[in-house]
Amino acid sequence: MLRYLTAGESHGKALMGIIEGLPAGVFIDKQRIDHDLARRQQGYGRGGRMKIEKDQIEVLSGIRGGVTTGSPVAYLIMNRDYENWQEGMDPFQGDVNYKRVSHPRPGHADLTGMLKYGLSDVRPILERSSARETAARVAAGSIARQLLNVFGVQAASHVIQIGQAALENQSISFDQLAEAELSPVRCISKTTEEAMIEVIDEAKAAGDSLGGIVEVRVKGLPRGLGSHVQWDRKLDTQLAAALMSIQAIKGVEIGDGFLSATKPGSQVHDEIYYSEKNGYYRMTNHAGGIEGGMSNGEELVVRCAMKPIPTLMKPLNTVDIDTHESYEAVKERSDTCAVPAAAVVAELVTVFTLAQAFMEVFGKDSLEEMRRCWKPLR
Ligand SMILES: Cc1cc2nc3c(=O)[nH]c(=O)nc-3n(C[C@H](O)[C@H](O)[C@H](O)COP(=O)(O)O)c2cc1C
Repeated sequence: MLRYLTAGESHGKALMGIIEGLPAGVFIDKQRIDHDLARRQQGYGRGGRMKIEKDQIEVLSGIRGGVTTGSPVAYLIMNRDYENWQEGMDPFQGDVNYKRVSHPRPGHADLTGMLKYGLSDVRPILERSSARETAARVAAGSIARQLLNVFGVQAASHVIQIGQAALENQSISFDQLAEAELSPVRCISKTTEEAMIEVIDEAKAAGDSLGGIVEVRVKGLPRGLGSHVQWDRKLDTQLAAALMSIQAIKGVEIGDGFLSATKPGSQVHDEIYYSEKNGYYRMTNHAGGIEGGMSNGEELVVRCAMKPIPTLMKPLNTVDIDTHESYEAVKERSDTCAVPAAAVVAELVTVFTLAQAFMEVFGKDSLEEMRRCWKPLR
């Protein structure tokens, strides 16, 4: 079973991860992981924190000579900002009252986390619930991507909407998504990019924040990942759960998703064809590459809705946890809009989830054996 755990706090020494279940013999390029980490850090609308950090992975185990050994891969991503926070964040010497937070933010884990864990300070909750954690998830996905690439699976992401600024023509080919890499908002249309930047600027000037919609696409996925036989083995179950676990993601749709609820079946289901050369195929892909909880060999299309960032520079009302009097919520340095970064996180979280499903069907202890047994369904 391929799985991973992360650890680390936003202003702690480092983010960490342990990946277990990778086959031996996969060549891992560190630069490609650092490249994905850098992609996550970009995006118009981010706050000052991303100017401090320059994320790079340090692998501690499970890789020798650039190749996986089959042992757990443990890694770190150091927080440069830690040197400004060591006084409060050092696990043994840190002052626990350092930058205590007593005004929990609506829309964050602050209030319920503090009550649930019996704390009298929001700080420990804020530190762990922060989306800084997604750096560790991106690294895990980036490593998993290098396994899937061996079998011809490729993933990409882009931003469809920020606030009210939305991409008009959403029928885009996989290859067009490369253009998103050049856009500060990860949008493939220059006109929409300008509109997105404008709405972000307006939100920032108003001390407000914005969410949006991102799309992840995966091509080259073999048929038969996931299974219809049990609810928790369905590929759409697994993708929805993993994507909903990303901070601020509040909706996940596969293929036509919510739109399909408004159309008759004749316009939603993808008719089946067969050719001697390519086997079974479809002319349309409303299902987004999954039917009955299994990948059907078409491109995977998944969209995620991100809510606006909860930390507002013009803060919402809250209550002081000591006096219970009304107060403004804390405003710690924050992004105005992190939708472009969320697209990268969603892409790599999708990749890891697919790698898990891939290992379930085609997994062996070594890549060599996987290659030997590799026989995708036609
Ligand atoms: C890439 C990314 C960056 C984020 N940056 C911030 C931020 O700077 N400030 C903030 O308050 N929330 C930020 N968030 C969202 C919060 O982490 C999230 O809303 C919070 O943890 C509560 O979880 P929930 O929204 O899933 O309920 C970010 C989310 C993502 C995916």
